[in-house]
Amino acid sequence: SDPDLVARATAAKAALGDRVFVLGHHYQRDEVIQFADVTGDSFKLAREAAARPEAEYIVFCGVHFMAESADILTGDAQRVVLPDLAAGCSMADMAVLAQVEEAWDTLVDLGVADRTVPVTYMNSSADIKGFVGRNKGVVCTSSNAERALRWAFERGEKVLFLPDQHLGRNTAVLQMGMTLDDCVLYNPHKPNGGLTVEQLRNAKMILWRGHCSVHGRFTLDCVTEVRDRIPGVNVLVHPECRHEVVTAADYVGSTEYIIKTLDAAPAGSSWAIGTELNLVRRLADAHPDKQITFLDRTVCYCSTMNRIDLPHLVWALEELVAGRVVNQITVDERTAYHARAALDQMLALP
Ligand code: 13P
Ligand code: SF4
Repeated sequence: SDPDLVARATAAKAALGDRVFVLGHHYQRDEVIQFADVTGDSFKLAREAAARPEAEYIVFCGVHFMAESADILTGDAQRVVLPDLAAGCSMADMAVLAQVEEAWDTLVDLGVADRTVPVTYMNSSADIKGFVGRNKGVVCTSSNAERALRWAFERGEKVLFLPDQHLGRNTAVLQMGMTLDDCVLYNPHKPNGGLTVEQLRNAKMILWRGHCSVHGRFTLDCVTEVRDRIPGVNVLVHPECRHEVVTAADYVGSTEYIIKTLDAAPAGSSWAIGTELNLVRRLADAHPDKQITFLDRTVCYCSTMNRIDLPHLVWALEELVAGRVVNQITVDERTAYHARAALDQMLALP
């Protein structure tokens, strides 16, 4: 990275001292992650944000929904900054509150809403988390989806899972022992989600039709190809991958799980990793004694995670030094109140 920008970021952080705390998601660029006080998956970062009451500013190097969650979980005095407001998440954008309310109204009309628990992946807007909190549901991340679903099925017979169909299906089938027939796919662009009344009544998991465009790139062919190319390779993927990819893989888990699995792997072992490329490259650099390859042959970054680059980070930090808070993320009181209930419920999962 540009030595001048590195020096400026270092100086700005030093000038701010304990007043600033920088969080970095594992998918961030190297040039940014070097300035993170803590790195983590989205679950760990939510907990870290909530555990830093002494910092006036939380600079969130990640995407918009993570910064919103940090704002919800921190006190009024703390301000959360997202260095580039264009760092969104296409999956989170796939569930809009009005659509989710319409889906819920359909379940109310069918008389099944009172037996349905809404569960939303962290990768959703604060509005959606607020909806889930209002309806006594829970947030989950890729590291606690199974626990969240077990909690939900202790309270209801059916789950409306938002917005990632793959995390929902993979967790239900591979960790909860459900069948693919227990799951239906709700298309928000069609009346009744494109489902029959019978399907909506019988399904245990109503999966929202959302997905991650980055993890959607990994196919079963990628797994077959890498197994042919590297005998004995271990295939390790994120649960946002399609069901057939996760089924064909050897290990599945969140970004934090992926990192820990490689830390524990023996020297000389071979790994093909199905997750975002900044992280896979860093892992390959950190483990020269292991053969680590990207599961796809093509390059695939999360373009919105990559919006946070060193120039944006330097700008945000230097503005803070000058006493100006730029790109502050705030969630309105009412939404935050309900969203906090759903997030707190996640943090309290056994
Ligand atoms: P985790 O960090 O929770 O594994 O999530 C991955 C992701 O897609 C974040 O956007
Ligand atoms: Fe969203 Fe996928 Fe990027 Fe994660 S990797 S922020 S789910 S688009």
